Amino acid sequence: MKLLQITVAVLFTTIMVNANAASNYTLFSPHQIIQLTVSQENDGAIVYVIDRKDKPVILPSGFSFKLNKPDVLLNQFNIIKIDSSVVNESWQPVWGEVKTIKNNYKQLAFTLIDKNNSGITIKLVFRVFDDGVAFRYEFPQQKNLNYFIVGDELTQFKLTGDHTTFWIPGDFDSNEFRYNTTKLSEVDALKAENDETAIGVTSPFSANGVQTPLMMKTASGLYINIHEAALVNYSAMQLLIDKKNLTLTSQLVPDAVGNKAYLHAPAVTPWRTIIVSDKATDILASKIILNLNEPSKIKNTSFVTPQKFIGVWWEMFNGKSAWDSVSGKHGATTANVKKYIDFAAKHHFNGVLVEGWNRGWEDWFGNWKENVFDFITPYGDYDINELTAYAKAKNVRIIAHHETSGSVTNYERQMDTAYRFMINHHQNTVKTGYVGKIIPRGEHHDGQWMVNHYIHVAEKTASYKIMLDAHEPVRPTGLYRTYPNWMACEAGRGTEFNGFSRGNLPEHETIMPFTRWMGGPMDYTPGIFHMKLTQFNPNKQEMVHTTLAKQLALYVVIFSPIQMAADMPQNYEAHLDAFKFIEDVAVNWDDTKILEAEPGDYVTIARKAKNTNNWFVGGITDENSRLSTVNCSFLDDNKKYEATIYRDDANAHYDTNPEAYKIEKKIIDSTTILTLQEAPGGGYAISIKMLK
Ligand code: NOJ
Ligand code: CA
Repeated sequence: MKLLQITVAVLFTTIMVNANAASNYTLFSPHQIIQLTVSQENDGAIVYVIDRKDKPVILPSGFSFKLNKPDVLLNQFNIIKIDSSVVNESWQPVWGEVKTIKNNYKQLAFTLIDKNNSGITIKLVFRVFDDGVAFRYEFPQQKNLNYFIVGDELTQFKLTGDHTTFWIPGDFDSNEFRYNTTKLSEVDALKAENDETAIGVTSPFSANGVQTPLMMKTASGLYINIHEAALVNYSAMQLLIDKKNLTLTSQLVPDAVGNKAYLHAPAVTPWRTIIVSDKATDILASKIILNLNEPSKIKNTSFVTPQKFIGVWWEMFNGKSAWDSVSGKHGATTANVKKYIDFAAKHHFNGVLVEGWNRGWEDWFGNWKENVFDFITPYGDYDINELTAYAKAKNVRIIAHHETSGSVTNYERQMDTAYRFMINHHQNTVKTGYVGKIIPRGEHHDGQWMVNHYIHVAEKTASYKIMLDAHEPVRPTGLYRTYPNWMACEAGRGTEFNGFSRGNLPEHETIMPFTRWMGGPMDYTPGIFHMKLTQFNPNKQEMVHTTLAKQLALYVVIFSPIQMAADMPQNYEAHLDAFKFIEDVAVNWDDTKILEAEPGDYVTIARKAKNTNNWFVGGITDENSRLSTVNCSFLDDNKKYEATIYRDDANAHYDTNPEAYKIEKKIIDSTTILTLQEAPGGGYAISIKMLK
């Protein structure tokens, strides 16, 4: 990513502070929308307060660190120095929702020394943006001991009321839950909508623990989102709710022996982010999390190419085939993969994901073996050399699948060999997977050890010019700015759940943008056209809980530079007129407008395709039908456009009539206001082309 311009020089001031003076330090955001106040209590504790305009957002909240090594509680300090600065710059992402991102904040950094004589110095750094506040802790090089074991980081967020909250349980290994919507005081993670996780393991979690991004709505009309940015060399943050005091306290995911993080100074924690606005649309448009991440560490990013792909995948979920070759239903056969390659080539898709191509699937799940897969040995009925040549001739690339089955040490030993094998077979994208317990030590998916592993994979794949799509990792925190080859993560409950469980509720995709998708792209695998899973097995009662038109809308509502068309070619061939939208839709954008949004109810987004004058619009609703309004003022003035609208038919319904859609064409311009009826569980997709 390029740094475009520094429009305002960074201003630095340093205040040397008298150790005994208790004072308030106030900082306004660049346009005076957000106010941060930091103060010190008589005992030396530091507290912060956040207001937006005249509304309180965070009441006085403190922090403390409990170190296990050295055995010290850091909660009372002397302030030895305060630095302030302003940044106003713009930069261009390698790929993204918009062409140029503005990064404008004021910073206040407190240098603190432990009042209780351990000699430990930390820095507390705040950044105040117009749409929120972020802060992190820094452990600068110390005079004596530079090695710390963190037992707890207790950062508080004291809320102003019993907000409506969109949450999933604070599991240490999985984010693959249905969302719950309750008052904060009513959160009970043990009674959550937590039926099944595909990851094959859940960790015992507390009734009061929830994951971030945590989305809340206040009675005073504010939308508040709490998450973290740049999770590197640290454990993921969850939040524990004190229901009496309506206070959230950070809880770090522990390692196998209960420690939370191992730090060698100089070290920094991730940023704790509080995004706030009176408009839900602003939450989705916020760039705070990306701005807090480091610029790209990958110098030459020309190999990073946003793409759409299909795959030998959904047929394993709907019962047509299997990953293994002993069941007699092996999906990854030479002949079957050729059919997918043909379809991809015909419809201009770059990639074909093939799962179940390598040996080991007879024995992979639930056995906790260390050496199940090797990532270079295909099954006998998968002729990799023939398929490599076949794909290459058709300008298609096979996407590698590396299911580690949680055996991370095994994967780390084999990564170089596996990536060289990929390069030798003309492959440049890998989908990784971490189903099951982390072998061998029983680390958690979201702990520091695994956090470092996922980043190691991003760096290693980049060194081989390979793009990465990680399934079952920790949820993202904007690191795709730093590693632009890390295209997407799963780390949430995707479409696959409709294939083996009660599935995802119709409201699911109206909550995901405000929660899981705040941190970065998800490989959600939309595009299912045949909603009932009885297609190959009359006893398979599962179904997808959206209309077909909503499946199309998801290609715009979900931002990801890598998007799967997840259904099988034969189901697309039955609806080639609707499939045209998936064929046309972009995956990389110059502009994005969040037109309408309300967590749990509806989302409407317009995006301008990279380097074109064409726009795509996606609108989705929950289980309620809804009239959506698209004001086309985002289009260029005095230009005409042809809009192709893919919408729910009059009697469409996610449960009873999901595949009823209609397609209309209209000439529109920037004065047009479209009103579109969305069916229960439905939506619409619009492709808008500028006319010459
Ligand atoms: C879970 C992943 O999310 C899914 O996409 C994959 O097919 C299976 N694991 C098997 O690796
Ligand atoms: Ca709803």
